[in-house]
Amino acid sequence: MRLRKILRVRWRSWPLLAILCVCGFAQARFRQPSEEYAARRAKLRAAVDGPIVIYGYTGHEDASEVALFFQEPHFYYLTGHSEPGAALLLIPEASANKSGADQLGAEKSDGAQSADGLREILFLPARDPKEEVWEGPKTGPDDPDVTAKTGFANVEPIDNLKGDLEKLAKTYKTFYTLLPPKHEEGYPHLTNSVAEIRAAIPHATLKDITPQLDAMRQVKSEGELALMQRAIDVSVDAQFDAMRRMRPGMFEYQIAARMKEIHETGGCSREAYAPIVGTGFNSTVLHYSALDAEIKDGDVVVIDVGGEYGGYAADITRTLPANGTFTPRQREIYDIVLGAQNAALVAVKPGAVLTGDKGSLQAIVTEYINTHGHDKEGRPLGRYYPHGVSHHLGLDVHDPGDRARPLEPGMVVTVEPGIYIPEENIGVRIEDDVLVTKHGYQLLTARLPRTADEIEKIMAEARTRAQTQP
Ligand code: GLY
Ligand code: MN
Ligand code: MN
Repeated sequence: MRLRKILRVRWRSWPLLAILCVCGFAQARFRQPSEEYAARRAKLRAAVDGPIVIYGYTGHEDASEVALFFQEPHFYYLTGHSEPGAALLLIPEASANKSGADQLGAEKSDGAQSADGLREILFLPARDPKEEVWEGPKTGPDDPDVTAKTGFANVEPIDNLKGDLEKLAKTYKTFYTLLPPKHEEGYPHLTNSVAEIRAAIPHATLKDITPQLDAMRQVKSEGELALMQRAIDVSVDAQFDAMRRMRPGMFEYQIAARMKEIHETGGCSREAYAPIVGTGFNSTVLHYSALDAEIKDGDVVVIDVGGEYGGYAADITRTLPANGTFTPRQREIYDIVLGAQNAALVAVKPGAVLTGDKGSLQAIVTEYINTHGHDKEGRPLGRYYPHGVSHHLGLDVHDPGDRARPLEPGMVVTVEPGIYIPEENIGVRIEDDVLVTKHGYQLLTARLPRTADEIEKIMAEARTRAQTQP
């Protein structure tokens, strides 16, 4: 929150503030209908036998001055609520005897909420008029329209959560939450959340709800697919622009800058990941992000850049010849990667697996790359393919969940083989986003050409146009 302090001191600029308010809560612009979130919560509630408590982000996760608030993805998936400091409590359906929900309802002193409705509670921070001068109006637990806005019949001040947990602990021995991985990376959001729960109900057993939630998130709804297609379409537009704009003498950051502009102009709230535009040797660095090199005649350029729309990520890579024409060796490597991608794509259907033994997408790609072409020493090329061929895509670019789970209709995965030969300064990756359908797959990135011929044609046409236009 350093940004806010600096603004207080230096800038009393209301227009800027208005922009920050709009941009800072970008997920909410694209909420699904409240019923969709409610159905997800009901499904999760039915999957376990104890209360579930999940905390949203606080807004303190990123202290940098350019940070904009973005909601914790699991929390967003269940609530569509994208303001900081919230929490969610889900209570199981009534069991044989008096359920915890009934007990909690009965103990509520205000008597305003029926016990039957108390299967789920959204906890929100109380509104703070002083803060709202800076951050804009927020949704508060006492707002008259809070149910219409959030889709929750029961909304309480966040300060009530501790007491509600204590009451539920009289009925339930086991509670579910998102347990942190052994080494939580970055801001310790989950570790902090668990510490708060343990402080409230020290004798309860805490179990992990992550696997159930991950599994749900792996299969996308129609609404999610619409947002993903939008993220992909805007990102495809940006990839086309890079093909047309690419020239030796440009810098990597200039290509990325135009792509980001196209994303944001198209409604993306941020990049889905740090853009990768790597020329020459940098094309062989998998997550290259410096973007400070000049693009040289004869280079290949790996462009792995995707936007995020309504919280959902696109993840697309194309590899271009800087001067518009692949060298014979670059084209040879390119065609092997494309052949590997095609071999993997035809295997995408319900029941297929991403990783594992023979028949998995990973095995198909590895086999293809190892049986086509050689390095300068005459060795198979598999040694230059160091990463996975696929991951799930969704609210996160590397969407969580079991990558060994057989594919099902509604899942969206990437297919992204690559070959990176540092000693030849040749890196090639081709990455597309694929929806698993009932009988096979649908290429969500189909509008963006993949073959070397098509790419060279688009680049040549753009050059001709640039030469003939004043
Ligand atoms: N852009 C990151 C990845 O392809 O996984
Ligand atoms: Mn990817
Ligand atoms: Mn990528």
